[in-house]
Amino acid sequence: MSDENRTAALDGVNPGLVPQRFLYTGARMPAIGLGTFGSDHVTADEIAEAVKGAAAAGYRHFDCASVYCNEDRIGPAFKAIMDGGVAREELWVVSKLWNDKHDDVLGSCQKSLADLGLDYLDMYLVHWPFPNFHPPGCSVESRSPDAKPYIHESFMRTWRQMEALVEAGLVRHIGTSNMTVPKLKLLLRDCRIKPAINEMELHPHFQQQELFDFVRANGIEPVGYCPVGSPGRPERDRTPDDTVDIEDPVILKIAQRLGVHPAVVCVKWAVQRGQTPIPFSVKRRNYLANLQCTVSEPLTATDMQAIAGLEKNCRLIKGQVFLWKDGQTWEALWDVDGEITPP
Ligand SMILES: NC(=O)c1ccc[n+]([C@@H]2O[C@H](COP(=O)([O-])OP(=O)(O)OC[C@H]3O[C@@H](n4cnc5c(N)ncnc54)[C@H](OP(=O)(O)O)[C@@H]3O)[C@@H](O)[C@H]2O)c1
Repeated sequence: MSDENRTAALDGVNPGLVPQRFLYTGARMPAIGLGTFGSDHVTADEIAEAVKGAAAAGYRHFDCASVYCNEDRIGPAFKAIMDGGVAREELWVVSKLWNDKHDDVLGSCQKSLADLGLDYLDMYLVHWPFPNFHPPGCSVESRSPDAKPYIHESFMRTWRQMEALVEAGLVRHIGTSNMTVPKLKLLLRDCRIKPAINEMELHPHFQQQELFDFVRANGIEPVGYCPVGSPGRPERDRTPDDTVDIEDPVILKIAQRLGVHPAVVCVKWAVQRGQTPIPFSVKRRNYLANLQCTVSEPLTATDMQAIAGLEKNCRLIKGQVFLWKDGQTWEALWDVDGEITPP
């Protein structure tokens, strides 16, 4: 353990005190996780070191994905954590199926397991409902020549393979990511094993109240990505209209009163609202503050109400590379009219 990690262990949070979510299976999932996508500017080794430091600080939930290109570095970090005395059952490890592997779910899951050095995952997600390959880091203008729309029958073929992973014991739960209400309705109608979580973009300026309410009403836990508004996201994921949660005067005022960074207010609000945020940071003071705020005195009802009023419908991760037809805008991916966008 590095000196920095040892210090984290000293002023960390007892994982037994961190709020938990109960999934419909009865499993307990820590209500905050550490994101592991380095937004193209943090190396795999720095992230692996942060995973070890975060575990020493009290994190038990880690949001991984094959497309983050670092699972083979995070694997040794998990080994070090377990060698250090944390039992496998105490960890909550998530990985995700990338878009070019919708036909090879077993192979992709086995590769993530091998890279992560585990014999099962707690959660495996279909990362996006579109089976459209694009190389990591490509421009938002880039389009795959054989990009496809959402075709429910194809998605169900992938979902059947996901269900088979549960039946084979390779994963304990399966879930979705970047879904919409109409797509989830079809999945809930046709699945044998229902998704246990839906990972979705959630921050004060993008609260997705309808989808949030829908998943909870259906016994699916909402997991929120970009919980502090992803201030370090790659240039390609920025547009001039994007707003900045951590510069919002309401967030700044609460942060000032509490003596914390505005990012911490976003994380605290997320846990208290009922989603499970997965903030990314490789800086110990930041990931520690994000964890500590889940066990400190709650935000007041007035704070919660004020943040609820900050909705700006500001989606940051628009997904342009998944568009399948010329002339479409990114809204087509998100079924904004309440119906699945026709092919
Ligand atoms: N399912 C999906 O499609 C999907 C999509 C996007 C992301 N994700 C997941 O969600 C995770 C989080 O999303 P994200 O990384 O884009 O955005 P984020 O967590 O909203 O933002 C991360 C940024 O916020 C800063 N930050 C975090 N905590 C802070 C604190 N307490 N004080 C000051 N700054 C703080 C970090 O800076 P420092 O490094 O300087 O601390 C980092 O640059 C990803 O890592 C990934 O695991 C999933």
